[in-house]
Amino acid sequence: MTTDPAELRAMRRARELGESVLGTTSPNPAVGAVILAADGTPVGEGATAPPGGPHAEVAALAQAGDRARGGTAIVTLEPCAHTGRTGPCADALLAAGIARIVVAVPEPTEPAGGGADRLRAAGVDVELGVEQAEAEAGALSGWLTGVREHRPFVVWKVAATLDGRVAAADGTSRWITGDQARAAVHRLRATCDAVLVGSGTALADDPQLTVRDAEGRNVAPKPLRVVVDRRDRVPTTARVLDDAAPTYVSRAADPAGLLAELFDRDVRRLLLEGGPTLAAAFLREGLVDEAVVHLAPTFLGAGPSLVGDLGLSTITDALSLSIVDVTPLGGDVQIRLRPTRHTEGHQHADGRG
Ligand SMILES: NC(=O)c1ccc[n+]([C@@H]2O[C@H](COP(=O)([O-])OP(=O)(O)OC[C@H]3O[C@@H](n4cnc5c(N)ncnc54)[C@H](OP(=O)(O)O)[C@@H]3O)[C@@H](O)[C@H]2O)c1
Repeated sequence: MTTDPAELRAMRRARELGESVLGTTSPNPAVGAVILAADGTPVGEGATAPPGGPHAEVAALAQAGDRARGGTAIVTLEPCAHTGRTGPCADALLAAGIARIVVAVPEPTEPAGGGADRLRAAGVDVELGVEQAEAEAGALSGWLTGVREHRPFVVWKVAATLDGRVAAADGTSRWITGDQARAAVHRLRATCDAVLVGSGTALADDPQLTVRDAEGRNVAPKPLRVVVDRRDRVPTTARVLDDAAPTYVSRAADPAGLLAELFDRDVRRLLLEGGPTLAAAFLREGLVDEAVVHLAPTFLGAGPSLVGDLGLSTITDALSLSIVDVTPLGGDVQIRLRPTRHTEGHQHADGRG
C-alpha cells in the first residue's frame, strides 16, 4: 500500500470532494478525484456531476490539462470501463497520459468493472484498496448499500433532551436544540436524496422538510420529501405537501417496502426524521445504518422518548451502537453512531439475531 504522503493527502482530499457532492449524484456514486503531476503537485480536482454530467476523473483531468501527463490519478472508486451516459473514465485517463492510479474502492458492479484491468493492460501502475474502509464509510456508503442490499442507506436523525425526550408531554417539540444544531440538520438534509417522516410527525409538527439557509430561505438541493401515511391522515394543507420541493406520499406497509419504493425512485441516501414510532420500526428491522443524535442540555421529565417500543425486555438484548464521533454544536452536542456490527435482515444491530 502506498505510504507516499502526497498520495495519502490527495486521497483524503478526494474523499472530501466526494462528500461535497453527496445528495446531488444519485443514482450514481459520489466520487472524488485528484490528479497529481509527475512531481507530486496537485494539479486537478473533480467530483461526480449530477447524472448525465462528467464523472470525477474526467472533471479532474480537465482541470489538470497537460500537467496530467506522466502523473498520478487518486480516485475514491475504481474508474469505469463501460460506456454509460458518459464515456469510459479508464479511456480518458489513458488519453491524458496518466502513469499511475491509486484507488480506494474496487468497482463492485459488473457492467462498470474492469477499469483497473484495462489501465494495467495499457501499462499504467494501478493500486487498489488504499484507505478503502474510510472511503466506504464516507460518501460512497449510500451507493454501496444500494449495490449490495438494493435499498437506500438510512441515516436516522433525532433531537432530544438529556433524558431522551423528543417532545414535551403536551406534544410541543419545536426547537429542542439551538441554532447551530438546526443549521447542521439542514446541511445533513442537503447530503440526502430524500427526507422521511411518519404521519405522526407530519400531524404534530407540520414540518416543511426543505433545505433552508441561515435566513430560512429554501435552497438547493431539494431532496424528495417523503411521508408514510397509511391511513390518509395528513391533510392536503400540510406544509410538506407545498410546492417548495417534490413530495412522495407512501402507504407502504413496512420500512422494507418503503425502502424498495424509494430505491426505485433513485434514492440512495435517506434521512429518517420521523418520530419514535417510525424510528422504532426501522431499528427493529435493522434498517438504520447511521444515527445522528442531537442532545440538548435540558430535561423534560415527561413526553415521548427518542425511540418507541423495540420489543426488547431484558438488558442483554439492548440494541448497541458504536460512537463514530461527538461534536459540540453551540450549546448542544451531536453524537454520530453506527450499528456495532451491521447485518442484513431481521436482526439486532449487533447481529445477535
Ligand atoms: N425531536 C425530534 O427530533 C422529533 C422528530 C420527529 C418527531 N418528533 C415528535 O414525535 C412525535 C410524533 O411521534 P410519532 O411516533 O407519532 O411520529 P412518526 O414516527 O413520524 O409517525 C408515526 C406514524 O407513522 C405511520 N407509519 C407508517 N409506516 C409505519 C411503520 N412501518 N411502522 C409504524 N408506523 C408507521 C403510522 O401512522 P399511519 O398508520 O397513519 O400510517 C404511525 O402512527 C411528535 O410529538 C413530534 O413532535 C420529534
